[in-house]
Amino acid sequence: MSTTTTLPGGMDPLDHLTTDTPARIAAAATVAELDAIESEVLGKSSPIANARRALGSIEDPQERAARGQAINGVATELRSAIEERRGLLEAAELEAQLRADSVDVTLPGRRPMRGTHHLIQQTMDEIVDIFVGLGYTVATGPEAETDFYTFTALNIPEAHPSRLETDTLYLDYGDAEDEILLRTHTSPMQARYMEDHAPPVYVVVPGKVFRAETVDATHAPVFHQVEGLAVDHDITFGDLKGTLAEFARRFFGADTEVKFIPHYFPFTEPSAEMHAFTHGRWMELLGCGVVNPAVFEHVGYDPDEVTGFAFGMGVERMAMVRHGIRDLRSLIDPDVRVLEQYR
Ligand code: DAH
Repeated sequence: MSTTTTLPGGMDPLDHLTTDTPARIAAAATVAELDAIESEVLGKSSPIANARRALGSIEDPQERAARGQAINGVATELRSAIEERRGLLEAAELEAQLRADSVDVTLPGRRPMRGTHHLIQQTMDEIVDIFVGLGYTVATGPEAETDFYTFTALNIPEAHPSRLETDTLYLDYGDAEDEILLRTHTSPMQARYMEDHAPPVYVVVPGKVFRAETVDATHAPVFHQVEGLAVDHDITFGDLKGTLAEFARRFFGADTEVKFIPHYFPFTEPSAEMHAFTHGRWMELLGCGVVNPAVFEHVGYDPDEVTGFAFGMGVERMAMVRHGIRDLRSLIDPDVRVLEQYR
């Protein structure tokens, strides 16, 4: 395209725009570089802008029109070359970005650690579930208990060693009417439940209990029990044996053998310990017995009308016997590698 020369020496400042600039545009490596070239050659102080501003000083209308067309022609060519290049660069940049952001779907995933109930909770739930399956309901009671429900209502004499501070953790409740303590067993709920419910009663009570113990392989100051109580017309020791033997079969396996050994508890008479044969030997599992009529009298049941049986078992002990765990402390070890073994 021919342009009208306005500078001495025949040099038109637009000339190099048609010679060098297309190559520079084609060589621009980034959109940013291209932007810089664009503002240099088409921007406000570019040769194009200057040439346009100079148009006014061309007197001859024909010459002015020709010059204007020439400038526009150069500008249009440059603009379209820039846009073409911009399209290519943007596509390349997008491609690179996508490649950098891409996800390798063949990489193995990072799995979050799966949580689970603690073995003690699992065991307690399972014990409760077995009794629910046998028709029992579930109740829970306070961990801070009165002396009355913990001992007196259960026929535990005033001088019984379990009442001593060497065994029981007493709470300082100021002027409370009765001594308040951390319950040493779940048995207080026997009395509480019977006070609130008329017979028949078939209830299990899971919960935490507390004793002034030093931690060793078989003792801890906080542990768990499941209490059971059945009160109805004509309940016998035979019902107790049948129920607890069935429980042992469901908990340890269908061919589990049990035996009952005479024992003493103030709130049952007669009382027994149930042992089960598991892992090749007899293991003591729980305490039980026929509800002592003295307990019925404390809660307003008529001992001539109803009879019952009760039992209480340590949840940690049940878990240890079942899994062959020798040291109670491994149950309260917070190490996930220990806990993970019991899902
Ligand atoms: N409360 C007793 C204890 O903590 C366990 C127990 C024994 C509960 C005999 C009972 C029972 O209900 O009848 O050692």
